[in-house]
Amino acid sequence: LGSPVIDIGKLYKETGCFTFDPGFVSTASCRSAITYIDGDQGVLLYRGYPIEQLAKHSSFQEVAYLLMYGELPSKQQFDAFSHEVTHHTMMHEALKSFLNGFRHDAHPMAMLCGVVGSLSSFYHEQLDMDDPEHRRLAAIRLIAKVPTIAAACYRYSIGWPVRYPRNNLEYVNRFLHMMFEVPSEPLELPPVAAKALDLLFILHADHEQNASTSTVRLVGSTGANPYACVSAGIAALWGPAHGGANEAVLKMLEEIGTADQVGKAIEKAKDKNSGFRLMGFGHRVYKNFDPRATIIREMCHKVLDELGVHDPLLEVAMKLEEAALKDDYFVQRKLYPNVDFYSGIIYKALRIPTEMFTVMFAIARTAGWVAHWLEQQSDPDAKIGRPRQIYTGADSRDYVALAKR
Ligand code: ACO
Repeated sequence: LGSPVIDIGKLYKETGCFTFDPGFVSTASCRSAITYIDGDQGVLLYRGYPIEQLAKHSSFQEVAYLLMYGELPSKQQFDAFSHEVTHHTMMHEALKSFLNGFRHDAHPMAMLCGVVGSLSSFYHEQLDMDDPEHRRLAAIRLIAKVPTIAAACYRYSIGWPVRYPRNNLEYVNRFLHMMFEVPSEPLELPPVAAKALDLLFILHADHEQNASTSTVRLVGSTGANPYACVSAGIAALWGPAHGGANEAVLKMLEEIGTADQVGKAIEKAKDKNSGFRLMGFGHRVYKNFDPRATIIREMCHKVLDELGVHDPLLEVAMKLEEAALKDDYFVQRKLYPNVDFYSGIIYKALRIPTEMFTVMFAIARTAGWVAHWLEQQSDPDAKIGRPRQIYTGADSRDYVALAKR
């Protein structure tokens, strides 16, 4: 699997020549055995397993295990992993006072970024970065605690008391209860809600060297602790060109409003001066179709049908997809709907508020981030990440005293 590779590091040592590659479109920053993408064929494999098979047969927790350890677990290994994750779901009580310091209307991604980073101040004494078992435990803690923190951030933002994790529930249901349960009313969740969320988590769990994972690795390359690395990954994910796209898609669909306005939106997206892009369209690597979008599209219809939700935004989304796929501008540039085009409509149907969409992505991607961090930390060839630049500033010149300027 893979394309031809030139070892630029070797070339640099021999000739002093280095490459100029803004956005790293043709630069591999590491070797990795976790995820494989063939953007031309629309192929995505986690540890060799096609995403379609994992989406159909697996669960997010099993996928998290697969990404972290490299193999699917036996029943015994899965039970032990699940037990260990469950054991670490609680948040330190002192973290609640940390939450209380945020403004009531803070964006949950801002809170998540800060609170996850603060975990480093809670667990630093127990972390020997040279000990693989300590690193593994930090990874488990992150997989376990990020959903708890995410739900706490949401509840804080709406003024509800933080809900403790119910450890008799499995991962996704536990998260949904922490988000939505109120003491007086036991939460009745339709099975399709947990199924859809689990699927979205599987599809978002990893995507090789995307911006946030590369950020986790770049920070990790300095020897920083894993909580700081993942907090940096959360910050990178937040941007609308990356994980923030799911929130931006929904806002865009709301702005378009009705299916008869789709033509205008298409024309605006084609106009470079408008500053408007079709959110949820295009991908750096997929230039054919995003296999995750195909799976999500099907689930989107199932969720709306089973929950009996009639969402006019789905009609707008379908018209937009249909119109873009017929338009030369999008066809020539190979701009297809990506994973985030439909995920927002599912989240909306599950009553997850728009500001939480990227947080949902972060919960899932934590599995990928920690897998990459673990892989990097045990890679004997790993180096500190330190890109070069093409300098475009002034030539060397003499300092002029303030009075003479
Ligand atoms: N709408 C309109 N035009 C677009 C779009 C879009 N969504 N995406 C790319 N283009 C155009 C660009 O203007 C450019 O046109 P040109 O060749 O005439 O100059 C061409 O397509 C190539 O675009 P680039 O920006 O060079 O492509 P790149 O690979 O750098 O960007 C990206 C990929 C960031 C995803 C881009 O397609 C985009 O901004 N999409 C919208 C945001 C989005 O959905 N992000 C989620 C990505 S998936 C994820 O992170 C989970």
